[in-house]
Amino acid sequence: MEIDLTLNDDDVTFEAARSDTLLDVLRDNGYAGAKRGCDTGNCGFCTVIVDGEPVKSCIRPASQLEGADVETIESLGTQDDLGPVQSAFVDNAALQCGFCIPGMIMRSKVLLEETPNPDEAEIRDALSENLCRCTGYEKIIDAVQDASTRMSGEADVAADGGYPDGDDAGCGCGYPDGGCGK
Ligand code: FES
Ligand code: FES
Repeated sequence: MEIDLTLNDDDVTFEAARSDTLLDVLRDNGYAGAKRGCDTGNCGFCTVIVDGEPVKSCIRPASQLEGADVETIESLGTQDDLGPVQSAFVDNAALQCGFCIPGMIMRSKVLLEETPNPDEAEIRDALSENLCRCTGYEKIIDAVQDASTRMSGEADVAADGGYPDGDDAGCGCGYPDGGCGK
Protein backbone atom coordinates (compact mmCIF):
# COMPACT_ATOMS: atom_id res chain seq x y z
CA MET A 1 0.00 0.00 0.00
CA GLU A 2 1.04 3.64 -0.45
CA ILE A 3 1.02 6.08 2.45
CA ASP A 4 1.07 9.86 2.02
CA LEU A 5 2.34 11.78 5.00
CA THR A 6 4.40 14.77 6.04
CA LEU A 7 7.85 13.83 7.28
CA ASN A 8 10.06 16.52 8.73
CA ASP A 9 8.06 19.16 6.83
CA ASP A 10 8.30 17.34 3.48
CA ASP A 11 5.34 15.70 1.76
CA VAL A 12 6.35 12.11 1.06
CA THR A 13 4.81 8.89 -0.19
CA PHE A 14 6.08 5.58 1.14
CA GLU A 15 5.40 2.00 0.11
CA ALA A 16 4.55 -0.18 3.08
CA ALA A 17 3.30 -3.67 3.75
CA ARG A 18 0.13 -4.01 5.81
CA SER A 19 2.18 -5.49 8.64
CA ASP A 20 4.74 -2.66 8.68
CA THR A 21 5.09 -0.29 11.60
CA LEU A 22 6.11 3.35 11.43
CA LEU A 23 9.59 2.30 12.56
CA ASP A 24 9.81 -0.18 9.68
CA VAL A 25 8.82 2.50 7.19
CA LEU A 26 11.25 5.07 8.57
CA ARG A 27 14.25 2.78 8.65
CA ASP A 28 13.43 1.19 5.27
CA ASN A 29 13.51 4.67 3.78
CA GLY A 30 16.81 5.78 5.29
CA TYR A 31 15.62 7.49 8.46
CA ALA A 32 17.83 5.60 10.88
CA GLY A 33 17.58 8.02 13.80
CA ALA A 34 14.75 6.15 15.49
CA LYS A 35 16.32 3.04 17.01
CA ARG A 36 14.93 -0.47 17.17
CA GLY A 37 15.37 -1.69 20.72
CA CYS A 38 12.74 -3.99 22.19
CA ASP A 39 10.39 -3.71 19.20
CA THR A 40 7.51 -4.27 21.63
CA GLY A 41 6.75 -0.79 22.93
CA ASN A 42 8.70 -1.06 26.16
CA CYS A 43 12.00 0.84 25.78
CA GLY A 44 11.16 4.08 23.98
CA PHE A 45 14.26 3.95 21.79
CA CYS A 46 12.08 4.31 18.69
CA THR A 47 10.21 7.42 19.87
CA VAL A 48 9.30 9.97 17.20
CA ILE A 49 6.66 12.70 17.12
CA VAL A 50 3.35 12.11 15.33
CA ASP A 51 0.89 14.98 15.15
CA GLY A 52 2.67 16.67 18.02
CA GLU A 53 2.71 13.70 20.37
CA PRO A 54 5.56 11.34 21.27
CA VAL A 55 4.91 7.94 19.75
CA LYS A 56 6.74 4.63 20.00
CA SER A 57 7.10 4.00 16.32
CA CYS A 58 7.69 0.24 16.69
CA ILE A 59 4.08 -0.26 17.71
CA ARG A 60 2.37 2.35 15.52
CA PRO A 61 0.94 0.59 12.46
CA ALA A 62 2.00 2.16 9.19
CA SER A 63 -1.58 1.79 8.00
CA GLN A 64 -2.62 4.50 10.48
CA LEU A 65 -0.21 7.10 9.09
CA GLU A 66 -2.13 8.44 6.09
CA GLY A 67 -2.01 12.24 6.36
CA ALA A 68 0.03 12.19 9.57
CA ASP A 69 2.64 14.80 10.45
CA VAL A 70 5.75 12.91 11.53
CA GLU A 71 8.93 14.40 13.01
CA THR A 72 12.11 12.43 13.52
CA ILE A 73 15.40 13.44 15.03
CA GLU A 74 16.76 14.06 11.54
CA SER A 75 14.68 17.25 11.56
CA LEU A 76 16.42 18.79 14.56
CA GLY A 77 19.93 19.52 13.39
CA THR A 78 23.17 18.17 12.00
CA GLN A 79 26.43 17.22 13.67
CA ASP A 80 27.78 20.66 12.83
CA ASP A 81 24.64 22.54 13.78
CA LEU A 82 22.80 20.73 16.53
CA GLY A 83 19.45 21.84 17.84
CA PRO A 84 19.24 23.08 21.44
CA VAL A 85 18.04 19.81 22.94
CA GLN A 86 20.72 17.85 21.09
CA SER A 87 23.43 20.30 22.18
CA ALA A 88 22.27 20.15 25.78
CA PHE A 89 22.50 16.35 25.81
CA VAL A 90 26.01 16.42 24.36
CA ASP A 91 27.30 19.24 26.56
CA ASN A 92 25.94 17.57 29.71
CA ALA A 93 27.49 14.23 28.80
CA ALA A 94 24.00 12.75 28.91
CA LEU A 95 24.85 9.94 26.54
CA GLN A 96 27.13 6.96 26.61
CA CYS A 97 26.29 4.33 24.00
CA GLY A 98 23.78 6.82 22.59
CA PHE A 99 21.24 4.21 21.55
CA CYS A 100 18.42 5.62 23.66
CA ILE A 101 19.21 9.25 22.90
CA PRO A 102 17.17 9.96 19.74
CA GLY A 103 14.05 8.76 21.54
CA MET A 104 14.97 10.69 24.69
CA ILE A 105 15.51 13.85 22.69
CA MET A 106 12.25 13.60 20.76
CA ARG A 107 10.25 12.98 23.92
CA SER A 108 12.10 15.85 25.65
CA LYS A 109 11.30 18.13 22.73
CA VAL A 110 7.58 17.54 23.18
CA LEU A 111 7.88 18.08 26.94
CA LEU A 112 9.69 21.38 26.48
CA GLU A 113 7.17 22.60 23.93
CA GLU A 114 4.30 21.83 26.29
CA THR A 115 6.11 22.74 29.54
CA PRO A 116 8.94 25.17 28.82
CA ASN A 117 10.34 25.14 32.36
CA PRO A 118 9.73 21.64 33.74
CA ASP A 119 10.88 20.70 37.21
CA GLU A 120 12.72 17.46 37.89
CA ALA A 121 9.56 15.54 38.70
CA GLU A 122 7.93 16.63 35.46
CA ILE A 123 11.00 15.60 33.47
CA ARG A 124 11.20 12.21 35.15
CA ASP A 125 7.50 11.66 34.55
CA ALA A 126 7.74 12.67 30.87
CA LEU A 127 10.72 10.37 30.29
CA SER A 128 9.39 7.50 32.36
CA GLU A 129 8.68 5.36 29.30
CA ASN A 130 12.14 5.93 27.81
CA LEU A 131 14.75 3.58 29.23
CA CYS A 132 18.51 4.11 29.37
CA ARG A 133 20.86 1.29 30.27
CA CYS A 134 23.95 3.51 30.61
CA THR A 135 23.59 6.93 32.18
CA GLY A 136 21.65 6.48 35.41
CA TYR A 137 19.31 9.25 34.17
CA GLU A 138 20.83 12.07 36.30
CA LYS A 139 22.72 13.62 33.39
CA ILE A 140 19.67 13.28 31.19
CA ILE A 141 17.65 15.27 33.71
CA ASP A 142 20.43 17.88 33.76
CA ALA A 143 20.39 17.99 29.95
CA VAL A 144 16.66 18.59 29.74
CA GLN A 145 16.87 21.38 32.30
CA ASP A 146 19.77 22.89 30.35
CA ALA A 147 17.78 22.60 27.12
CA SER A 148 14.93 24.41 28.81
CA THR A 149 17.28 27.29 29.60
CA ARG A 150 18.69 27.35 26.07
CA MET A 151 15.23 27.32 24.51
CA SER A 152 14.26 30.22 26.75
CA GLY A 153 17.11 32.18 25.18
CA GLU A 154 19.00 32.42 28.45
CA ALA A 155 22.16 30.71 27.24
CA ASP A 156 24.15 30.34 24.06
CA VAL A 157 23.75 27.15 22.11
CA ALA A 158 26.94 25.31 21.31
CA ALA A 159 27.62 25.27 17.59
CA ASP A 160 29.44 21.96 17.41
CA GLY A 161 27.95 19.99 20.25
CA GLY A 162 31.31 19.47 21.89
CA TYR A 163 32.34 16.27 20.20
CA PRO A 164 35.68 16.23 18.40
CA ASP A 165 35.96 15.80 14.65
CA GLY A 166 33.95 12.96 13.18
CA ASP A 167 31.60 13.10 10.25
CA ASP A 168 27.94 13.75 10.62
CA ALA A 169 26.43 10.57 12.03
CA GLY A 170 23.43 11.25 9.84
CA CYS A 171 20.84 10.24 12.40
CA GLY A 172 21.14 13.49 14.34
CA CYS A 173 21.63 12.04 17.81
CA GLY A 174 24.82 14.05 18.26
CA TYR A 175 27.09 11.04 18.55
CA PRO A 176 29.85 11.09 15.93
CA ASP A 177 30.64 8.52 13.26
CA GLY A 178 27.60 6.36 13.74
CA GLY A 179 28.73 5.46 17.26
CA CYS A 180 25.15 5.49 18.43
CA GLY A 181 24.57 2.21 16.63
CA LYS A 182 22.21 3.63 14.03
S1 FES B 1 11.89 -0.28 20.07
FE1 FES B 1 10.00 0.74 20.26
S2 FES B 1 9.60 0.83 22.38
FE2 FES B 1 11.42 -0.38 22.22
S1 FES C 1 23.15 6.09 26.61
FE1 FES C 1 23.20 3.92 26.34
S2 FES C 1 21.11 3.32 26.56
FE2 FES C 1 21.12 5.42 27.07
